[in-house]
This record gives sequence, structure tokens and C-alpha cells, in this order.
Amino acid sequence: MDVNIQRLKETDSTNKYLCEQLSREYLPDFSVITTDFQSSGRGQRGNSWESEQGQNLLFSVLLRPEFVPARSQFLISQITSLAIKEGLDRFAAGFSIKWPNDIYWNEQKICGMLIENDLAGAMLSQSILGIGVNINQNLFISNAPNPVSLKTITGNNQDREVILTDILRILATYYDLLRKGETELINRRYHHSLFRKEGYYFFADKNGRFSARIVGVEPDGELILCTETNEKRGYLFKEVQFVL
Ligand code: BTN
Repeated sequence: MDVNIQRLKETDSTNKYLCEQLSREYLPDFSVITTDFQSSGRGQRGNSWESEQGQNLLFSVLLRPEFVPARSQFLISQITSLAIKEGLDRFAAGFSIKWPNDIYWNEQKICGMLIENDLAGAMLSQSILGIGVNINQNLFISNAPNPVSLKTITGNNQDREVILTDILRILATYYDLLRKGETELINRRYHHSLFRKEGYYFFADKNGRFSARIVGVEPDGELILCTETNEKRGYLFKEVQFVL
């Protein structure tokens, strides 16, 4: 897969930059924007994304997954999460995918992503994968609950470029598997990599806290839990949270 990478010293947000560029010109599948600093990095739920100048990976990838049905769009989250998790695995044990698509190291968050999908009829037309991975930052000052960086985990500074190249290579491999229809393999690996995949833990929904175990994740991304009293419950994004 040819990767076309644009490197910026600074931008407001790589997702926003990519969107704006796409409104002016055509960019090919797998175009990448990366930057050293975002003046207004976006996180999930309208939060901002903290990242110290020059320390971390901040990038957005454009995909054109025209072969993926809209109802299967969660596969895009799955392959992106797997690529990042596997890119980090060679540094330490303990990385997992916290449903739906945060990357954790033990109980701490090392990576967040913001995926924006566009549809054309029943199919996807484009996806913007906005990814922030904490690499060399020592101290986090925002109120993000439990951030961690690769440096804190390994004790050493790490080369951001090498990690970016690795993640993009693995992502391209998964994107190829997706194109070939290998959705079972993707699903199996995603489930195998899930945070808290075994055992009972506390979750919180609109009615409060409860203890449950993960049964699985449906193809549409719905998380299926089973409570200690054997009640099955399904949740879409943002309807339930892990109690950490
Ligand atoms: C989250 O809150 O977990 C999602 C964070 C996503 C951050 C990345 S950094 C690169 C891209 N550009 C943005 O403005 N956000 C995403």
C-alpha cells in the first residue's frame, strides 16, 4: 500500500485539517497527516486531547472503504485498534483494547481515537481515523483520568517515526484483510485483545453501577454484558462506561 504522508509542524487538529483539505481536493486512500503539535486537538465527547509539543504521535488517516457496508462500519474501529495495539505490543506486555476503541496499558490509557465515517447509500465512502498515541510525554496536566505514555512504561524515550511507520504497516495489512472479507479473523483478534475480557467488573449505565462480565461485541459494535444475576444487557457507544 502506498502511503502518502504530509508532515506539519503545527495545526489545530489533524482531523480538521484533513477534512478541510478533502473539501478542496481529492486525496487517495491511505493518505496520512501527522503533526508535532495541535492547538485544538479533539477528543471524544467534545473533550480536548492533551499532547505536549513534539512528544507524541498525532495523526489522521484517510481511508476509502467503499467495499465495507455501512452496517459493518465497526470493523474500521476494530482494525484501527488492532493495528495500534499490535504496534505497541513489542514494547511491553499489558496492552489491550478498551471497548469500543481506546488502547490501554493495564489500567491506563495510552491512545485515543476519533473515527469519523461518511456513507454513500448502504456503503462507507470515507473514514477519517484520528489517532493520538502518548509516546514520550512525562507529565499530563489535563483532567484526563488515567493517561500513560510509552516512556513511562518502558523508562526510555522512543522514536515516534518508527512507531508511526509500524502502525501504518500493520493497519495496511488489516485493511487488506478487510478488503478480502476476513471479518471473522478481525473479530476474533479484536475479542482476544479486549480489556477486561474475563471476569466480573463494575460498569455504569444511566441507572447506576452494576457488576457484569463481557459476553462479546456484536458486529455493529454493541457491547453485550451479563450481570451477576445472569441478565444480558446490550449497550451502544456511550451508553455504558467501565468503572476504573
Ligand atoms: C479520545 O478522546 O480518546 C480521542 C482522542 C483522539 C485524538 C486524536 S490526535 C489526532 C486526531 N486529531 C484530533 O484532533 N484528534 C485526533
